[in-house]
Amino acid sequence: MKLSKRMDIIKPSGTIAMAEKARELSKSGRRILNLDVGEPDFDTPEHIKRAAIEALMSGHTHYTSSLGTIELRRAIAEYLKRRRNVDVDPEKEIIITPGAKHAIYCACMATLDPGDEVLVLAPTWPTHFTCIEAAGATPVEVPCGEAYRVDEEMLKEKITSKTKMILINSPNNPTGGVLNVNDMRVIADLAADHRLLVLSDEIYDEIVYDGIETKSMLSFDNIRENVIVINGFSKTYAMTGWRLGYAIANKDVIDAMNRLQQATTTCPANFVQVAGVAALKGPRDEVEKMVGEFNRRRKYIVKALNEIPGVRCVMPKGAFYVFPRFYGLKMSSFEVSMKLLEEECVSTTPGSAFGACGEGHIRISYATSIETIAEAIERIKRFVEKYSTT
Ligand SMILES: Cc1ncc(COP(=O)(O)O)c(C=O)c1O
Repeated sequence: MKLSKRMDIIKPSGTIAMAEKARELSKSGRRILNLDVGEPDFDTPEHIKRAAIEALMSGHTHYTSSLGTIELRRAIAEYLKRRRNVDVDPEKEIIITPGAKHAIYCACMATLDPGDEVLVLAPTWPTHFTCIEAAGATPVEVPCGEAYRVDEEMLKEKITSKTKMILINSPNNPTGGVLNVNDMRVIADLAADHRLLVLSDEIYDEIVYDGIETKSMLSFDNIRENVIVINGFSKTYAMTGWRLGYAIANKDVIDAMNRLQQATTTCPANFVQVAGVAALKGPRDEVEKMVGEFNRRRKYIVKALNEIPGVRCVMPKGAFYVFPRFYGLKMSSFEVSMKLLEEECVSTTPGSAFGACGEGHIRISYATSIETIAEAIERIKRFVEKYSTT
């Protein structure tokens, strides 16, 4: 069958070959240690599940407004006031989507044209590149290293007459780096000077360590009209399967995204939106417990990786990933990940999936038990010793 030309642009996920290999190995009876997971290994907190069950039983089973329920939009606005001290109009400046991913897709389709360039602070989650490309625009990587720091001069140099947007993701997937306030201000000022949009994916903003303060791009008044903030419930509340996210932007962008949502998904599930209100208004102890456990694993895995000769791992400040560099092996990051899977049954994600500047690294998720991490580290160590050229 002849597919649309658009499908030449939308490539399969860079990790599909890995997933297929893992499936094949599982079928042959081998136990795979999954360190490629992009979701918390905790269950959704009980009070959120109860809210959804009660909503289902009391008839929240029909379409809602395509912007999402006003109750959830108000709860998000209250949460942002409480947490960030920013004012957002729940009637006009918020849209609820089935997952943050759909919000990113709609935001790109609503604002980008073929020929536009988007400066992408990289490495970053592959979907960011795909959504830009799906809109016909071109992602331009701005390497930010393992610590996810902005080089102002490099950023400036990459701005051309075609640049329309800067895309950032802090806390960052895959590095776990968190932009400091200075770097955020540099981005805001450049965006304001050059009249650029800023798409800020803040989905990991509650998963941070060592008491560091994060800021939202919504807090910079000079770009307030041109910022699109993406967030969601998947990571903070372990709700990946519920499909609930949102975007905050000016009224025109939200209107355009709303038209796209009307043409595609209509709205997220009604009872799931009720559960979202319970998540935002309910107790925080489960979230704190989860972040505490991630923190314990973070320290463990960084120390263990740095004890392997030929591996260097920066201590991440947020999210639940590490992005070690394997400098002692003469292999591409894809080969490292694939061989690790084939020979040691450890499933990871090659750094090159997160942009060209991710080459030389692999992404390891610590959203799995410390026992699994410990066993995986032993196998990684054996692997590195076998192939090390240093
Ligand atoms: C940076 C980033 N944004 C968004 C998402 C997806 O969020 P959702 O499950 O709400 O679509 C992910 C998932 O891995 C992510 O890493």
